[in-house]
Amino acid sequence: MNHIKLDPERQIGQINRDIFGGFAEHLGRHIYGGIYEPGSPLADENGFRTDVLEAVRRLKMPLIRYPGGNFVSGYRWRDGVGPKAERPARVELAWEDIESNHFGTDEFVAWCRALDTEPYLVVNAGDGDMREARDWVEYCNSRSDSALANMRRANGFDAPHNVKYWGIGNEVDGQWQIGHKTPDEYARTYKEFAKVMRWVDPSIKLIAAVSSGWRYQPVERTQLLFEQASDFLDYLSLHWYVGNPEDDYEKYMTLSEFFEASITAFEGLIAAMRQQLSMERPVHIAIDEWNVWYRARGNTREERNNLEERYNLEDALVVAMHFNAFIRHCRSVQMANIAQIVNVIAPIFTDEEGLFLQTIFHPFELYASNCGDIALDVFWTGDTFSGGDFTGVRTLDVSATIDAAGEKLSLFVVNRSQTETLETKISLADASFAGNVSVSVVNGPDIKAENSFEQPEQVTAARREARAQGSDYVHCFEPHSVTALIFDL
Ligand code: AHR
Repeated sequence: MNHIKLDPERQIGQINRDIFGGFAEHLGRHIYGGIYEPGSPLADENGFRTDVLEAVRRLKMPLIRYPGGNFVSGYRWRDGVGPKAERPARVELAWEDIESNHFGTDEFVAWCRALDTEPYLVVNAGDGDMREARDWVEYCNSRSDSALANMRRANGFDAPHNVKYWGIGNEVDGQWQIGHKTPDEYARTYKEFAKVMRWVDPSIKLIAAVSSGWRYQPVERTQLLFEQASDFLDYLSLHWYVGNPEDDYEKYMTLSEFFEASITAFEGLIAAMRQQLSMERPVHIAIDEWNVWYRARGNTREERNNLEERYNLEDALVVAMHFNAFIRHCRSVQMANIAQIVNVIAPIFTDEEGLFLQTIFHPFELYASNCGDIALDVFWTGDTFSGGDFTGVRTLDVSATIDAAGEKLSLFVVNRSQTETLETKISLADASFAGNVSVSVVNGPDIKAENSFEQPEQVTAARREARAQGSDYVHCFEPHSVTALIFDL
């Protein structure tokens, strides 16, 4: 039998809810036709799709990154503010499109406020300059009588937008980026941008773009950022996209090992640099683009369905495994942003008449709704499997949290077996289960099951109540499922 041991006193640390962040880029049908569709019967007076707002609210995202992504490296924020009729349409090089600029900073912040989420803006460190970046901070956050603050007021926003999170550049390590930068060029750029942005608003939190997936000198990039700009580093960002291009389920399921190895390596790098510089202040990890993405890669001027990935159940398991890793590494991973939110590699998929929820929506909602305040250090043992280069990987992938009051314990379990129901003893140390257990399971008929407009609930979440007393409880985890057990203690 599998065995999971929970001890409410073995705590890893506080969980930052920003691990449930999102990312919205001007790309394909994400903004136009996704978030924003003025004239649609589904839109409100701001042009925001109300069905989309309602679905995004269910994900309880505490912050959303915007406007890119590759898009931001050619973006001029001034094009996207002021009267819409006067906003210029621009040729957009990252995704080969024409950007109308009808949705910009003010619309994005208003959309975030409608969701009760914090805006996280990324400045253009591709073909943009530090003056433009600093002006954007001033436009958004200044209370002074300056021209830029008055411009915001004239655009209808008397109170500052108070944007707290600011990224400097996107994936500057990649040759595909407008304004790709060597490690040294970026460290210099980062410091100079950060300096003036902070002079405008000392309270902002800054995110440095380190690695788009471990390929292009992440070690050197991290080292130079610390050596040249340590005073301005709040978060270092890492991106990754994963997939199952070989259609090898077992190998796909061992991605948990990649998440562990990537985060652990980055933690080590940051720890080493802080040690070398005798730095007491923490520098956090922001995995500010992550998701499954390997099918819908195309983008052409003619084809508007850019990156409209359709997800299946195995992808939902991989999304759940991400959250397990983020929870287990809660001390370092203080922000994570699923890329993206609507239509473009996204949990929500729209057409003109409505939307459906993709498979990956359900684990996201499950974790965001049930995650407690503190991560627990869980011991678990039992069945194993082999895949790719790995042997002896535990079939269950597990994380657990407890609320601050110590009254609710949430256990998250991904059963990666395609065929086996795994009977599992769950033991609690020095505490007792107090009766109620809420059991929520994300599952579907088979690992390739997808949702669609025609069949929107092939993969979904089911909830029921159970009872647990004493210090042991036995649960049978369904094959290819994600389960959240919420125990009253
Ligand atoms: O999310 C899609 C793209 O993936 C982003 O624009 C870019 O940052 C990454 O390569």
